[in-house]
Amino acid sequence: MQGKIVAANWKMHGNNALAHTLAAAVVRHVHTAPPCTVVLCPPAVYLHVVAGEINSTPVSLGGQDCHGEAQGAFTGDIAAPMLKEAGCSYVIVGHSERRQFHYETSAQVRAKAAQALTHGLVPIVCVGESLAEREAGKAMDVVARQVSESVPGGADTEHFVLAYEPIWAIGTGRTAGADDIASMHRHIVEQARGARVLYGGSVKPGNAGEIMRLSHVAGVLVGGASLVAEDFCRIIDSCHPERWETV
Ligand code: PGA
Repeated sequence: MQGKIVAANWKMHGNNALAHTLAAAVVRHVHTAPPCTVVLCPPAVYLHVVAGEINSTPVSLGGQDCHGEAQGAFTGDIAAPMLKEAGCSYVIVGHSERRQFHYETSAQVRAKAAQALTHGLVPIVCVGESLAEREAGKAMDVVARQVSESVPGGADTEHFVLAYEPIWAIGTGRTAGADDIASMHRHIVEQARGARVLYGGSVKPGNAGEIMRLSHVAGVLVGGASLVAEDFCRIIDSCHPERWETV
């Protein structure tokens, strides 16, 4: 089995100073041998700051979104080759905040993921149900549909990552129960032919270990807790299997 992935989604938080401080703290913590793949996804204007801090270290850089075209008249958008040139190796696509507030459809998410693949980035394709959908017993169907519509056909599972992020667990302090995470991840892995699936939604140092050890959980996508260096470093440490009972 491949190692775990711990990805930080800073969203629209921070400033120049925090970008330096957080990235430097993560680099100091993982030094030369991180227990997992660590990916930092800062706001686009701080990519160069983080790139400078992680230069020649095992920490990877990611964008938070890219466009579904390689270039063009799309004011405010960022293309996958631009992220690549900025030093990224990953890009988050289809985050529920993009789907919700920017009305992105799964077809658009698939175009973004395809651009990422074309330009040598690993797309982290986000899926997840709303609370109403979960309460209506539709979570599995909603997520299955998002997966089939958002992942480019024929994409090699080595080259992309999925992230299951139940919308009701994002930034709320509520995490999905272990059984729900495990069954949803199994469902996605079976559908997506063995793809790696991260869990996201209120991951904290106190619950990362128990989530990380669930089968079919390839790692975590962390929002709020990734903005606190100590918390994020403890989540990275939870990738050590010997920590899974104690973290
Ligand atoms: P959260 O965000 O960890 O703050 O819940 C996760 C995400 O939206 O990726």
